[in-house]
Amino acid sequence: MNTKHLLQSAAAALLLCGCTSPQEGTLDQAAERRIDDLIGRMTLEEKIGQVNQVTTGWTVDALAEDIRKGGIGSILNEVNPETINAMQRIAVEESRLGIPLLFARDVVHGFRTILPIPLGQAATFDPELVEQGARNAAVEATACGVRWTFSPMVDVSRDARWGRIAESSGEDTYLNTVMGTATIRGYQGVPDGDPTLMAACVKHFVGYGASEGGRDYNSTNIPERQMRNVYLPPFEAAVKAGVMTLMTSFNDNDGIPATGNRRLVTDVLRNEWGFGGMVVTDWNSAGELIAHGFAADAAEAAEKAINAGVDMDMMSYSYLKSLPELIQDGRVEEQRLDEAVRNVLRLKMRLGLFENPYVDAAKVEDVLYAREHLAAARKCAEESIILLQNNNDVLPLDAARTRRLLVAGPLADAPYEQMGTWCFDGEAQHTVTPLTALRETYGERMQIGYMPVLPLSRSTASRAELDALTAAARGYDAVVVFVGEEAILSGEAHCLADLNLQGSQSDLIAAARRSGKPVVTVIMAGRPLTIARDLKNTDALLYAFHPGTMGGPAIADLLFGVAVPSGKTPVSFPVMSGQEPVYYSQNMTGRPASGNEVLLKDIEAGAGQTSLGCTSYYLDAGFGPLFPFGYGLSYTTFEYGAPILDKTTYAQDDTIRVTVPLLNAGKREATEVVQLYVRDLVGSITRPVKELKAFSRVKLAPGERRDVTFSLPVSELAFWGIDLQKRVEPGDFRLWAAGNSRDGEPVEFTVL
Ligand code: GLC
Repeated sequence: MNTKHLLQSAAAALLLCGCTSPQEGTLDQAAERRIDDLIGRMTLEEKIGQVNQVTTGWTVDALAEDIRKGGIGSILNEVNPETINAMQRIAVEESRLGIPLLFARDVVHGFRTILPIPLGQAATFDPELVEQGARNAAVEATACGVRWTFSPMVDVSRDARWGRIAESSGEDTYLNTVMGTATIRGYQGVPDGDPTLMAACVKHFVGYGASEGGRDYNSTNIPERQMRNVYLPPFEAAVKAGVMTLMTSFNDNDGIPATGNRRLVTDVLRNEWGFGGMVVTDWNSAGELIAHGFAADAAEAAEKAINAGVDMDMMSYSYLKSLPELIQDGRVEEQRLDEAVRNVLRLKMRLGLFENPYVDAAKVEDVLYAREHLAAARKCAEESIILLQNNNDVLPLDAARTRRLLVAGPLADAPYEQMGTWCFDGEAQHTVTPLTALRETYGERMQIGYMPVLPLSRSTASRAELDALTAAARGYDAVVVFVGEEAILSGEAHCLADLNLQGSQSDLIAAARRSGKPVVTVIMAGRPLTIARDLKNTDALLYAFHPGTMGGPAIADLLFGVAVPSGKTPVSFPVMSGQEPVYYSQNMTGRPASGNEVLLKDIEAGAGQTSLGCTSYYLDAGFGPLFPFGYGLSYTTFEYGAPILDKTTYAQDDTIRVTVPLLNAGKREATEVVQLYVRDLVGSITRPVKELKAFSRVKLAPGERRDVTFSLPVSELAFWGIDLQKRVEPGDFRLWAAGNSRDGEPVEFTVL
């Protein structure tokens, strides 16, 4: 982590709580006493009401009685400020104790101004930009009365079959950590009580991204060391960054559903890490303990969840229904319920809801789609888009020499699809599509033709329809084909076993290729797709993980070189679906692939059993990914010198000073994401072939050289070893500095 991020995280922690550690009392003593007094006056029903979260979707009247009697602590999915004020007025002015409601929403990648999906934001490798996007989302959502979002999702995700990879920051522990804490700083980076303070909720605790087979809600089987070294660190960092809430996940890991896992939710989260915030279940995940076969009925489900340390029950009603009896029978201590209520009341107090429970609906329009929000969303989209191929430097297109441009494909003008998954409050009419952006910017200078050919990403086309595209394209100077995924094909419960482009999209690219004209393909999707078969049919390929409201102008700028691609893959791209999960930080195994293995197409007839060699690879897909983690091209070329270390041997408390000579060897100013990887050569357990430990975005003018420096504390090399203790084990290490996880020559150093 470079100095800037270290200072930033500390500042955020101080800012959040006015104290040196987020885990210390986040409220002054007067506020704590006020909570004591409230809890002392609450009936059992009112206490249970505070830990009950329900969804709206009904009229105010439908919930009025429950609110009035203090039977609801939080409402999710209400975003109309007048409705929120009306419900809040009942709670504050008509209930016995006047405790305000907490309104929540999945503000996952923007509220009205939609940012790229989190996987796209991760591709920027720009935490400052991600933080700004989250801040803007908080300003828009809190203006409507939403004060709690269920974001960031920091599930390390290594299987593109899993639809929720779209919501993650990809396959790498460090990148999920950096992007998760940046998002938390964005939502929460204002003082307690600030009306734009939106409580973050780090989720899904924990290991959900390892759902077996990439099938959502499926079991995970993550052993303790891998849990400690791969899946838990982003959550621990979120806690240290002062995240105010956390959500438990749907999955059972090693047979224990997260929502009933006391060891995780109490022993690790609270006792080991000192988390002082509030824990909420996922939607009905308490009730689903019954479906898991982990609880016999709602009462046992509620008992296991609240005794595991979960404070609030989202939409299972098992707390509401069963806690009175459970406390009566002594299966749940009232003191445990009081703790949960205290966590809820602290959250409401820190948000300032007791002092300012209402929003000014008249001011909402001033902040929605604010110019600076749209500008930040455009910048984020631009930095999120990855140039994966650029044969013959077809890109950037020359606006002066392009007289006729054909735009084709189902995603060229698909405003709703472009926003991607988990976009409840985005409005398609505000989306600027690539076709619109190209027409607005270049329509006066060139003829822009448009042939969607396919209505949807899943649609099929006849040979005649494809041939019509081929014939039409011959009359243009270049063809840009927009394909990918409709928004519904990724996100929660939307998993795919086949990652090829759907429908006739690959045929569409091939039809464009048959025109003989330069072909540029732009893919908008919620995951890395298996595009190996499409590469031969396109000269250039830009990959945009659903880029949001301003994706169109960003793409137009990149196509014509107004902007230069800087995005890097936050997840490995598989050659074939069957390769999943494929990720860079794998262990070596005892029989690592050499890369020279014989592939299926080259196997001789009658080949002997051991003639192909015995290493870890696929006969049909080989070993490596199609595109590795951290990969992305530019309109220039960057040349790396060997990384230079200040020493060759380091003590445990040292900091490794790394200098990376970098040259922009091309003709355009551009930004490179310089990545630092380390490998622990020998450990008490097997270690990944390399792990990302730092990165930095560096902008260089043509011909400019710069020594890029990193300060990497030796302590960052610590891992949980054979004895389940976390330490930096003495020994030899390798360090790479490169523009992706595959390239570069390592230098070696030793830790004593
Ligand atoms: C969903 C998701 C979770 C979301 C919650 C509330 O099922 O798993 O990420 O925050 O319910 O919508």
